[in-house]
Amino acid sequence: MDFDFENIIGKSKAIRDVLEMVKKVARTQATVLITGDSGTGKELVALAIHGHSDRKDKLFLPVNCGALPETLLESLLFGHMKGSFTGAFANQEGLFEKARGGTIFLDEIGEIPQHLQVKLLRALEAKEILPIGSTTPRHIDVRVLAATNRDLQKEVEGGRFREDLYYRLNIMEIHIPPLSQRPEDIPLLVDHLIKKHNPELNKNFTGADDEVIRTLMSLPWKGNVRELDNVIEHTMILAEGDRILLDDLPVSIVAIGQANPAFTYNLKDALRQYEKQHIIRVLDQVGQDRREAAKLLDISLSSLYRKIEELGIP
Ligand SMILES: Nc1ncnc2c1ncn2[C@@H]1O[C@H](COP(=O)(O)OP(=O)(O)OP(=O)(O)O)[C@@H](O)[C@H]1O
Ligand SMILES: [Mg+2]
Repeated sequence: MDFDFENIIGKSKAIRDVLEMVKKVARTQATVLITGDSGTGKELVALAIHGHSDRKDKLFLPVNCGALPETLLESLLFGHMKGSFTGAFANQEGLFEKARGGTIFLDEIGEIPQHLQVKLLRALEAKEILPIGSTTPRHIDVRVLAATNRDLQKEVEGGRFREDLYYRLNIMEIHIPPLSQRPEDIPLLVDHLIKKHNPELNKNFTGADDEVIRTLMSLPWKGNVRELDNVIEHTMILAEGDRILLDDLPVSIVAIGQANPAFTYNLKDALRQYEKQHIIRVLDQVGQDRREAAKLLDISLSSLYRKIEELGIP
């Protein structure tokens, strides 16, 4: 499998730390728990670990542990023997065996049912599995990577996730922070996403206007990079020309962007923006009664007038 780090885009300290960890753990056989909110790139990181390991020429098998009913998941992971349940017409090898020499990626590990947690722990510790309906354990040679967007520690405290399994999975943790905590990655990501979608959409965009970037940097991105990806793709489908302009962005995005002042690194500018927003909010609350607002803000009426003037408050 061909893979390089250029697939994981970002220059923030957070992303550089993630890449550093990826490089370090890739060379080992360690189980790695990858955590982060939805759309932050957990699967991408799992692929990068596999792609940099000595297992890279063998299979990388992702399994979504939250998507299947318990018996199906058990059979998928561990396999089953002919006749072990209705519909088991033949012996079936599980993914733990199919992935031999390679990597299995257990996505949404927080959703794995309790009974399978025990079997998984055994697979990790003894490197042995038991297909459904079999009494002969089988040796496995597979590296396990897991991901979750849940707080597994809380799941453990709530009795929904086995503590022993948690510690076994959590030998190494790679945490990917949400996109809103690393806006400096957005310009690079936008560039990367435009290049990614150009050929698929038969377009030729060379980039996005500064105003577009500033707006995108000020958004909350609850869906993280996946959401950004969708917005860029949507915009590229509808836009014409060779650069993406502010007018090309979906109206809803521009509206949220306007409600949030443009992102800036400069502390003075950021504080000014906050001051302005705060005063506008207080004025709104008191129906634009400046005397009342000054009282709530605990500043003199004349200071409030000066600030309204300075900050350009309508
Ligand atoms: N740092 C990044 N650089 C480039 N692309 C990224 C980055 N992070 C995420 N992506 C892209 O965003 C999308 C979502 O990433 P991925 O599927 O890895 O997220 P996830 O954390 O597994 O999400 P979920 O929890 O919803 O499964 C993918 O298309 C991926 O390629
Ligand atoms: Mg995922």
